Amino acid sequence: MKQLAIFASGTGSNAARIIHHFRHHPQIRIGLVVCNKPGAGVLDIAEKEEIPVMLIEKERWFRGDGYLSVLRSHDIDWLILAGFLWKMPAVLVKAYPGRIINIHPALLPKYGGKGMYGRFVHEAVLAAGDTETGITIHYVDELYDHGQIIFQAPVEVSAGDTAESLAQKVHRLEHEHFPRIIEKVIEAAP
Ligand code: GRF
Repeated sequence: MKQLAIFASGTGSNAARIIHHFRHHPQIRIGLVVCNKPGAGVLDIAEKEEIPVMLIEKERWFRGDGYLSVLRSHDIDWLILAGFLWKMPAVLVKAYPGRIINIHPALLPKYGGKGMYGRFVHEAVLAAGDTETGITIHYVDELYDHGQIIFQAPVEVSAGDTAESLAQKVHRLEHEHFPRIIEKVIEAAP
């Protein structure tokens, strides 16, 4: 059995899709939901699904052990970042080489890096006048939005699109592809 920890800080709509996707999977299960925001929607989802939750705080995350001991005590094999904004500490990148996957709401390498999240990404796409945007699923290294790209899917930016409408289009793509790409990557891993 491969066990995933889902890292999320927001409403958790991607987390919910991932949890649903793997609910009856014979080899992959969600062992932990990790969150840095008390009260985040993803915590309710985890509770409903009876998945253990770990609330993390900044000091220990960045200057301590990255909670590696807790991840290990839950037998976590893969870290899945679904709307998680804190940078991965080196200790975790080292402990999970090629085993950390993030989703980014744009076509990297465009619109990545520190501060490029949520509506800031969609506003930048609109300001640049791009005719398409999309999603990127990639491995995580120690730099923001930098690791090797696993999968991308585009969507058209139409006249009249707003940051909100782009966010909706991008979310649709994320929900469609993220769970199945995670499954594919894990099944193909040695
Ligand atoms: C997603 O758009 C993801 O790409 C980004 O944060 C958002 C999280 O949305 N990094 P949700 O909490 O899964 O609804």
